[in-house]
Amino acid sequence: MKGFSIAIDGPVASGKGTLALALAKRLDGFFLNTGAMYRSLALLAFEKGVDFNDEEEVLKLLPLVNVDLRDGKVFLNGKDVTDEIKKPDPDKGSSIVAVYKKVREVMVSKQQELASKYIEMGKVVIGEGRDAGTRVLPDASLKIFLTADVQIRAKRRQQLYKSKGVEKSFEEVLEEAKIRDERDSSREIDPLPTDPEKLGYWILDNSMQTEEESINVIMDELKRRGLLNDKN
Ligand code: C5P
Repeated sequence: MKGFSIAIDGPVASGKGTLALALAKRLDGFFLNTGAMYRSLALLAFEKGVDFNDEEEVLKLLPLVNVDLRDGKVFLNGKDVTDEIKKPDPDKGSSIVAVYKKVREVMVSKQQELASKYIEMGKVVIGEGRDAGTRVLPDASLKIFLTADVQIRAKRRQQLYKSKGVEKSFEEVLEEAKIRDERDSSREIDPLPTDPEKLGYWILDNSMQTEEESINVIMDELKRRGLLNDKN
Protein backbone atom coordinates (compact mmCIF):
# COMPACT_ATOMS: atom_id res chain seq x y z
CA MET A 1 0.00 0.00 0.00
CA LYS A 2 1.15 3.52 -0.74
CA GLY A 3 1.64 5.63 2.35
CA PHE A 4 -0.60 8.59 3.03
CA SER A 5 -1.76 10.64 5.99
CA ILE A 6 -4.96 11.38 7.85
CA ALA A 7 -5.25 14.39 10.15
CA ILE A 8 -7.64 14.45 13.09
CA ASP A 9 -8.14 17.73 14.91
CA GLY A 10 -10.72 18.83 17.41
CA PRO A 11 -11.37 20.21 20.89
CA VAL A 12 -10.36 18.64 24.17
CA ALA A 13 -11.83 15.20 24.97
CA SER A 14 -13.53 14.86 21.61
CA GLY A 15 -12.07 11.35 21.43
CA LYS A 16 -9.32 12.10 18.88
CA GLY A 17 -6.65 10.10 20.63
CA THR A 18 -8.75 6.99 21.12
CA LEU A 19 -9.99 7.09 17.56
CA ALA A 20 -6.58 7.80 16.07
CA LEU A 21 -5.10 4.88 17.98
CA ALA A 22 -7.92 2.54 16.96
CA LEU A 23 -7.59 3.63 13.33
CA ALA A 24 -3.83 3.10 13.43
CA LYS A 25 -4.40 -0.44 14.70
CA ARG A 26 -7.03 -1.18 12.08
CA LEU A 27 -4.83 0.13 9.24
CA ASP A 28 -1.52 -1.09 10.66
CA GLY A 29 -0.53 2.55 10.52
CA PHE A 30 1.40 4.99 12.68
CA PHE A 31 -0.32 7.05 15.37
CA LEU A 32 1.29 10.47 15.44
CA ASN A 33 0.18 11.73 18.84
CA THR A 34 1.20 15.39 18.60
CA GLY A 35 -0.32 16.35 21.96
CA ALA A 36 1.99 13.84 23.66
CA MET A 37 4.95 16.02 22.70
CA TYR A 38 3.52 19.15 24.37
CA ARG A 39 2.47 17.05 27.35
CA SER A 40 5.98 15.57 27.65
CA LEU A 41 7.54 19.02 27.69
CA ALA A 42 5.05 20.09 30.37
CA LEU A 43 5.85 16.97 32.40
CA LEU A 44 9.57 17.71 32.26
CA ALA A 45 8.94 21.33 33.31
CA PHE A 46 6.80 20.14 36.20
CA GLU A 47 9.42 17.63 37.34
CA LYS A 48 12.13 20.28 37.23
CA GLY A 49 10.01 22.84 39.05
CA VAL A 50 9.85 25.18 36.05
CA ASP A 51 6.83 27.50 35.98
CA PHE A 52 4.82 26.77 32.79
CA ASN A 53 4.33 30.52 32.37
CA ASP A 54 8.07 31.25 32.36
CA GLU A 55 8.73 31.05 28.62
CA GLU A 56 12.47 31.54 28.84
CA GLU A 57 12.92 28.69 31.32
CA VAL A 58 10.55 26.40 29.40
CA LEU A 59 12.51 26.98 26.17
CA LYS A 60 15.72 25.88 27.91
CA LEU A 61 14.12 22.45 28.37
CA LEU A 62 13.44 21.92 24.66
CA PRO A 63 16.78 20.24 23.84
CA LEU A 64 16.16 17.82 26.74
CA VAL A 65 12.90 16.49 25.30
CA ASN A 66 13.21 13.36 23.18
CA VAL A 67 9.84 11.82 22.59
CA ASP A 68 9.42 8.43 21.03
CA LEU A 69 5.97 7.20 19.95
CA ARG A 70 5.60 3.43 19.73
CA ASP A 71 2.51 1.19 19.65
CA GLY A 72 0.30 3.88 21.16
CA LYS A 73 2.78 4.47 23.98
CA VAL A 74 4.78 7.60 24.73
CA PHE A 75 8.41 7.49 25.83
CA LEU A 76 10.18 10.56 27.16
CA ASN A 77 13.94 10.11 27.08
CA GLY A 78 13.41 6.35 27.05
CA LYS A 79 10.92 6.22 29.94
CA ASP A 80 7.29 5.19 29.41
CA VAL A 81 5.26 8.28 30.41
CA THR A 82 1.99 7.31 28.68
CA ASP A 83 -0.04 7.54 31.89
CA GLU A 84 1.96 10.22 33.64
CA ILE A 85 1.44 12.85 30.95
CA LYS A 86 -2.32 12.56 31.44
CA LYS A 87 -2.15 13.62 35.08
CA PRO A 88 -3.57 17.06 36.04
CA ASP A 89 -0.28 19.05 36.10
CA PRO A 90 1.18 18.08 32.71
CA ASP A 91 -2.38 18.16 31.39
CA LYS A 92 -2.80 21.79 32.39
CA GLY A 93 0.77 22.74 31.47
CA SER A 94 0.59 21.31 27.96
CA SER A 95 -1.77 23.97 26.64
CA ILE A 96 0.34 26.71 28.29
CA VAL A 97 3.71 25.63 26.84
CA ALA A 98 2.05 24.89 23.47
CA VAL A 99 1.47 28.61 22.99
CA TYR A 100 5.20 29.44 22.70
CA LYS A 101 6.36 29.99 19.11
CA LYS A 102 9.71 28.25 19.50
CA VAL A 103 8.08 25.27 21.18
CA ARG A 104 5.70 24.86 18.25
CA GLU A 105 8.47 25.19 15.67
CA VAL A 106 10.56 22.47 17.27
CA MET A 107 7.65 20.10 17.91
CA VAL A 108 6.11 20.52 14.45
CA SER A 109 9.42 19.82 12.75
CA LYS A 110 9.87 16.63 14.83
CA GLN A 111 6.32 15.58 13.98
CA GLN A 112 6.85 16.16 10.25
CA GLU A 113 10.08 14.18 10.27
CA LEU A 114 8.31 11.23 11.87
CA ALA A 115 5.37 11.45 9.47
CA SER A 116 7.63 11.49 6.39
CA LYS A 117 9.57 8.50 7.65
CA TYR A 118 6.45 6.36 8.04
CA ILE A 119 4.79 7.55 4.81
CA GLU A 120 7.96 6.59 2.92
CA MET A 121 7.70 3.15 4.52
CA GLY A 122 4.25 2.84 2.92
CA LYS A 123 2.34 3.37 6.17
CA VAL A 124 -0.82 5.35 6.85
CA VAL A 125 0.07 8.10 9.30
CA ILE A 126 -2.74 9.24 11.56
CA GLY A 127 -1.81 12.61 13.02
CA GLU A 128 -3.93 13.93 15.84
CA GLY A 129 -3.96 17.29 17.63
CA ARG A 130 -5.07 20.85 17.00
CA ASP A 131 -3.00 21.77 13.94
CA ALA A 132 -2.50 18.33 12.36
CA GLY A 133 -4.46 19.32 9.24
CA THR A 134 -3.37 22.93 9.03
CA ARG A 135 0.34 22.77 9.91
CA VAL A 136 1.76 19.32 10.56
CA LEU A 137 0.15 17.41 7.67
CA PRO A 138 -1.21 20.08 5.31
CA ASP A 139 -1.32 17.50 2.48
CA ALA A 140 -3.30 14.94 4.46
CA SER A 141 -5.61 12.87 2.24
CA LEU A 142 -8.41 13.20 4.79
CA LYS A 143 -8.74 15.93 7.41
CA ILE A 144 -11.22 15.10 10.11
CA PHE A 145 -12.56 17.63 12.58
CA LEU A 146 -13.80 15.51 15.44
CA THR A 147 -16.14 17.16 17.84
CA ALA A 148 -18.85 16.47 20.40
CA ASP A 149 -21.09 18.48 22.68
CA VAL A 150 -19.01 20.13 25.43
CA GLN A 151 -21.12 18.54 28.20
CA ILE A 152 -20.46 15.09 26.76
CA ARG A 153 -16.76 15.85 26.35
CA ALA A 154 -16.54 17.00 29.97
CA LYS A 155 -18.29 13.83 31.11
CA ARG A 156 -15.75 11.72 29.19
CA ARG A 157 -12.91 13.71 30.68
CA GLN A 158 -14.28 13.19 34.17
CA GLN A 159 -14.44 9.42 33.52
CA LEU A 160 -10.86 9.46 32.27
CA TYR A 161 -9.71 11.23 35.44
CA LYS A 162 -11.67 8.77 37.53
CA SER A 163 -10.00 5.82 35.84
CA LYS A 164 -6.66 7.39 36.84
CA GLY A 165 -7.79 7.77 40.44
CA VAL A 166 -8.45 11.53 40.23
CA GLU A 167 -11.83 12.67 41.55
CA LYS A 168 -13.07 15.98 40.15
CA SER A 169 -16.57 17.42 40.04
CA PHE A 170 -18.36 17.63 36.70
CA GLU A 171 -18.53 21.44 36.99
CA GLU A 172 -14.77 21.71 37.50
CA VAL A 173 -13.99 19.48 34.51
CA LEU A 174 -16.49 21.35 32.35
CA GLU A 175 -14.91 24.68 33.27
CA GLU A 176 -11.41 23.32 32.55
CA ALA A 177 -12.50 22.01 29.16
CA LYS A 178 -13.95 25.40 28.22
CA ILE A 179 -10.79 27.22 29.31
CA ARG A 180 -8.58 24.82 27.35
CA ASP A 181 -10.72 25.08 24.20
CA GLU A 182 -10.66 28.86 24.45
CA ARG A 183 -6.87 28.92 24.87
CA ASP A 184 -6.34 26.47 21.98
CA SER A 185 -8.66 28.34 19.61
CA SER A 186 -7.58 31.88 20.40
CA ARG A 187 -3.80 31.51 20.40
CA GLU A 188 -1.89 33.36 17.73
CA ILE A 189 0.07 30.49 16.21
CA ASP A 190 -1.71 27.53 14.65
CA PRO A 191 -4.89 27.67 16.71
CA LEU A 192 -7.55 25.01 16.72
CA PRO A 193 -9.65 25.99 13.67
CA THR A 194 -12.90 27.71 14.55
CA ASP A 195 -14.29 27.34 11.03
CA PRO A 196 -12.94 23.91 10.03
CA GLU A 197 -15.30 23.32 7.10
CA LYS A 198 -13.84 26.28 5.23
CA LEU A 199 -10.37 24.76 5.66
CA GLY A 200 -11.42 21.53 3.97
CA TYR A 201 -12.11 19.46 7.06
CA TRP A 202 -14.70 16.71 7.08
CA ILE A 203 -16.71 17.27 10.27
CA LEU A 204 -17.56 14.32 12.48
CA ASP A 205 -19.71 14.91 15.56
CA ASN A 206 -19.42 11.79 17.67
CA SER A 207 -21.66 12.92 20.56
CA MET A 208 -24.06 10.04 19.89
CA GLN A 209 -21.60 7.50 18.48
CA THR A 210 -19.72 4.62 20.02
CA GLU A 211 -16.05 4.33 19.14
CA GLU A 212 -16.83 1.44 16.80
CA GLU A 213 -19.47 3.49 14.98
CA SER A 214 -17.06 6.40 14.51
CA ILE A 215 -14.37 4.07 13.15
CA ASN A 216 -16.83 2.54 10.69
CA VAL A 217 -17.96 5.95 9.44
CA ILE A 218 -14.32 6.99 8.92
CA MET A 219 -13.48 3.72 7.13
CA ASP A 220 -16.45 4.31 4.81
CA GLU A 221 -15.26 7.84 4.09
CA LEU A 222 -11.73 6.59 3.31
CA LYS A 223 -13.21 4.05 0.85
CA ARG A 224 -15.50 6.67 -0.68
CA ARG A 225 -12.41 8.78 -1.36
CA GLY A 226 -10.62 5.83 -2.97
CA LEU A 227 -7.95 5.76 -0.26
CA LEU A 228 -8.81 2.23 0.82
CA ASN A 229 -10.38 -0.67 -1.00
CA ASP A 230 -13.19 -2.94 0.16
CA LYS A 231 -10.78 -5.45 1.66
CA ASN A 232 -9.82 -3.03 4.45
O1 C5P B 1 -4.48 16.50 22.44
P1 C5P B 1 -3.99 16.63 23.84
O2 C5P B 1 -5.09 16.90 24.83
O3 C5P B 1 -3.12 15.51 24.27
O4 C5P B 1 -3.07 17.93 23.82
C1 C5P B 1 -2.64 18.56 25.00
C2 C5P B 1 -2.49 20.06 24.73
O5 C5P B 1 -1.40 20.28 23.83
C3 C5P B 1 -3.70 20.71 24.05
O6 C5P B 1 -4.63 21.24 24.97
C4 C5P B 1 -3.09 21.80 23.23
O7 C5P B 1 -2.98 22.99 23.96
C5 C5P B 1 -1.70 21.30 22.90
N1 C5P B 1 -1.61 20.81 21.54
C6 C5P B 1 -1.33 21.70 20.56
N2 C5P B 1 -1.15 21.27 19.28
C7 C5P B 1 -1.27 19.99 18.97
C8 C5P B 1 -1.61 19.05 19.96
C9 C5P B 1 -1.78 19.49 21.25
O8 C5P B 1 -1.22 22.88 20.83
N3 C5P B 1 -1.07 19.62 17.72
